[in-house]
Amino acid sequence: MSVENIESVMQETRKFAPSSEFASKARIGRWEDYETMYRRSIDDPGAFWGEIAQELHWFQPWKQVLDESEKPFFKWFTGGKINACYNCVDRHVANGKADQEAIIWEGEPGDTRTLTYAQLLDEVQRFANVLKQLGIGKGDTVAIYLPMIPELAIAVLACARIGAVHSVIFAGFSAESIKDRVQDGQSKLVITGDGAWRRGNVLKLKDVVDQGIKDCASVENVLNVARNPDGERFECAMQDGRDHWYHELASQVSAECPCEELDSEDLLFLLYTSGSTGKPKGIMHTVGGYSVYTYLTTRYVFDLQEDDVYWCTADVGWITGHSYLVYGPLQNGTRVVMYEGAPNHPQPDRFWEIVEKHKVSVFYTAPTAIRAFMKWGDEWVEKHDLSSLRLLGTVGEPINPEAWMWYHEKVGGGRCPIVDTWWQTETGGILLSPLPGVTPTKPGSATRPFFGVDAAILDAEGNEQKAGLLAIRKPWPSILRGIWGDPERFKNTYWNHWNGQYYFPGDGARVDDDGYFWIVGRVDDVVNVSGHRIGTAELESVFVEHPNVAESAVIGVPHDIKGQGLVAFVLLRGTDAEGSDALRQELNKMVEEKIGKFARPEKIIFSADLPKTRSGKIMRRLLRDIATGQALGNVTTLADPSVVDKLKAQYSS
Ligand code: PRX
Repeated sequence: MSVENIESVMQETRKFAPSSEFASKARIGRWEDYETMYRRSIDDPGAFWGEIAQELHWFQPWKQVLDESEKPFFKWFTGGKINACYNCVDRHVANGKADQEAIIWEGEPGDTRTLTYAQLLDEVQRFANVLKQLGIGKGDTVAIYLPMIPELAIAVLACARIGAVHSVIFAGFSAESIKDRVQDGQSKLVITGDGAWRRGNVLKLKDVVDQGIKDCASVENVLNVARNPDGERFECAMQDGRDHWYHELASQVSAECPCEELDSEDLLFLLYTSGSTGKPKGIMHTVGGYSVYTYLTTRYVFDLQEDDVYWCTADVGWITGHSYLVYGPLQNGTRVVMYEGAPNHPQPDRFWEIVEKHKVSVFYTAPTAIRAFMKWGDEWVEKHDLSSLRLLGTVGEPINPEAWMWYHEKVGGGRCPIVDTWWQTETGGILLSPLPGVTPTKPGSATRPFFGVDAAILDAEGNEQKAGLLAIRKPWPSILRGIWGDPERFKNTYWNHWNGQYYFPGDGARVDDDGYFWIVGRVDDVVNVSGHRIGTAELESVFVEHPNVAESAVIGVPHDIKGQGLVAFVLLRGTDAEGSDALRQELNKMVEEKIGKFARPEKIIFSADLPKTRSGKIMRRLLRDIATGQALGNVTTLADPSVVDKLKAQYSS
């Protein structure tokens, strides 16, 4: 978050109470009810979560709600048998919702597909049988590299149905990133597609997968889904024996596939996310706790009502898509809108056109999208009838009050509460958020902890402060269960900060006199670009692979639309310290190939030296000061103080 944002948030005094009309219809509409529930969730979590869990279907009840005996490896609902797919699909078909829309999908060119819960059940069972036919069973990892087409949700649910562990890879990642994730998770199968539409172009996903899995010995088969099930195929190579068209196999399997009765603590999925060091980590989530928590947060944070049409704009490749496009809303039996393409294709009003067309009532998006819409101009929003909207949400990064106000007035017509939801891949679900029927909101604040979440702000020693590091005291049901293959990294990253007494999310925050939390941003070397987490260390290791590069340091800087952008300082070998545009292009290309286009830096500065301490540590803090034009902090520990002056001159030239 930029310094200006922190300052504007610090001065923010506006407060918006939910209207009495909204509160009167809300699931929780009275402050006293919220407080009673919250108190109980903290004082007696076993009773609280046990009661909520009963709203889902269990094949066998749990014996213990929370087992803390191997802390920080917490277990929830131990002894219980459950299936997440059953709770998302079968349960609703059995309970009279067979003919209600489950997924309302719109492709970028304007084509649409709607699946009722009964149709979704049929599709998911078929998909699950295809997986089985390809030798996939309980505990096997399946990598999914699909565009935002219904089969992405279907593939995820089909894995959940048979107990296979899905590892979704966002379709913007490069071949190299696919390789890292497939190898780390030892995926036996990769599911991809022949193409997807993005800003009028076809993305050839299968080609990227072919490139990525060349050296992945674990992969036995590739399942290729056609973007147009009944229409034109996009050209792609098919390797005999390894590659299969999904529609061909699907036509040969039965449409019946019973759900696997899974242990509550069986792995549901891996999702890779960036940390401050090393390679991305495979975050582990298990079935029972994740199901219960995403079910309840979706229900209360989005105040879901029977006639809602719910749209979360996130890609299923990220955690928001997992928890609040697939699992949370489907467990609640709601109507979910899913959109394939770009927000500004063919014109900057595409989102509002979709809201109007499908009568979306609950809309959940990211601050970066809101800022882009602000820039494109009010006329694109004003063209559309958005009166179906009743609730708005944001996620992924701090929202600056100006963007919050624009969202509130222009999109919400001043009548829709906004839920600013703070959470992470690791938390599985929303931890801080207003409850829209009761919590007065303040622009830029994620307000208060959700049920069962005991949050605090601490200093490095563990003393409570008004501003400092965000910390969570108690485990909640969807807390990550580990980092795949690296229990030590799990303990070191999240649990070693305050003697294992608190979960450490890596965010800085402050709390105001009303007990509201204001997230300031990451305190580690993770940068949040358009709501996507990128570890600066990942980029640095890409650059040093270039033969001309000796060293590099990457930092995050404020960016008007993306929230944060990346700036790379690159030290060249030998005397060629000037660098060139050609070299800059080569380095950008390497980032695209090794991570993905979205990780390209805004600026690459070639430099003859980097500011270092006498012990050789790069002082990133000073690089940030240079890039943001601030007065330089303490420079007395620098080995060569003249370096910063040279860099300053170079940065502004
Ligand atoms: O810094 C916080 C920021 O996004 C990080 C988590 O990123 P990721 O695991 O990719 O998940 C993003 C979607 C849940 C957090 O550590 N973040 C997320 N939501 C907010 C936020 N920062 C401020 N306000 C939010 N509402």
